[in-house]
Amino acid sequence: MKNTILVTGGAGYIGSHVVRQLGEAGYNVVVYDNCSTGSRTSVLHGKLVIGDLADSEHLYQLFATYKFSAVLHFAASLIVPESVSHPLDYYANNTRNTLNLLRCCHVMGVNQIIFSSTAAVYGETTENPVTESAATLPINPYGRSKLMSEWLIKDYAESSSLRYVILRYFNVAGAEPGGRLGQMSTNATHLIRAACDAALKRKPEVRIYGTDFPTPDGTGIRDYIHVEDLATAHVDALRYLEQGHESQIFNCGYGQGYSVRQVIERVKAISGVDFPVIFAQRRLGDPACVTACADKIRQVLGWQPKYNDLDKIIYTTLAWEMRRDGLVMNPFSVMQRHSTDMDKSIRDRLRKAS
Ligand SMILES: NC(=O)c1ccc[n+]([C@@H]2O[C@H](COP(=O)([O-])OP(=O)(O)OC[C@H]3O[C@@H](n4cnc5c(N)ncnc54)[C@H](O)[C@@H]3O)[C@@H](O)[C@H]2O)c1
Repeated sequence: MKNTILVTGGAGYIGSHVVRQLGEAGYNVVVYDNCSTGSRTSVLHGKLVIGDLADSEHLYQLFATYKFSAVLHFAASLIVPESVSHPLDYYANNTRNTLNLLRCCHVMGVNQIIFSSTAAVYGETTENPVTESAATLPINPYGRSKLMSEWLIKDYAESSSLRYVILRYFNVAGAEPGGRLGQMSTNATHLIRAACDAALKRKPEVRIYGTDFPTPDGTGIRDYIHVEDLATAHVDALRYLEQGHESQIFNCGYGQGYSVRQVIERVKAISGVDFPVIFAQRRLGDPACVTACADKIRQVLGWQPKYNDLDKIIYTTLAWEMRRDGLVMNPFSVMQRHSTDMDKSIRDRLRKAS
């Protein structure tokens, strides 16, 4: 039997996919989550302990009960506009609670951590694709709260036996192809989810913010990574630390981007729903193009993504969201079919439902 791993935020979107993969890899898992945005039903493996990272006493009890060999730290608040209107809440939940967790690791002798960071730490970078050594100039409290957490981890590692892997995620999307896991949050704001919501008539339209960027079609370009591939990167990172290797920071993306228009066109084609699109002004601080240089994670961890395909990301998202609306019983069979059939299958179900 393998080691016992603490996963904070393991009932959330990304954490739950990682927990499932850890289970398949034979790890014992304890999830610590306050279920503020996560869900009990998303924890498919291990033990779920309901608790808040702000509750240090509870955390110490948890560490005393289980002998953790490593911590995977996902728990955070992550809605950028909310971080602008409630910055103190973001610094408390993201930065101070990371400090609580590190103190616990220090006292209880846990010296391996994998931290969920974000491309938002790069801010308005001019480097593209962006490498891990690019300047970190976050432009909102969310990005700063995560960068400050990175600093806490790095500084503490300098003075202790702690080794870390910091994973900077780009635009995470998709759902488990088996249809058991996906994003549960009702107020998710990411483009692919927003477009699927419009296709499913949960929202009246999709907004494109900016059509005059210096990109081929004038809309912003982003690097979308499938949540299953991102989950695999965590299992790879854990094995890397277990083998005694040194601390690292890795970008998590595919190194290629799609424009907002391209994403919307594919969601329309796959769903067969021609939902309205509203053209709006650029949002402050939105860069034209952000893609990851993902060479380092492939070279150092040997990470091999399997879902590097915009259509697969959209299919799995749409299948998950339809399932939540009771429209598709078996998204896995949908994934297996040829794309034309797939388009037709989804279209037929959407027609019947509307
Ligand atoms: N989703 C993305 O596109 C994205 C991109 C970059 C980075 N990230 C990072 O990935 C991590 C996970 O994001 P997600 O998309 O799965 O979000 P999520 O909201 O689905 O998951 C976060 C989980 O943490 C839990 N949680 C929050 N605060 C807590 C606290 N104080 N104590 C205990 N549990 C708490 C929530 O209940 C939830 O289950 C976050 O750290 C986020 O910053 C996400």
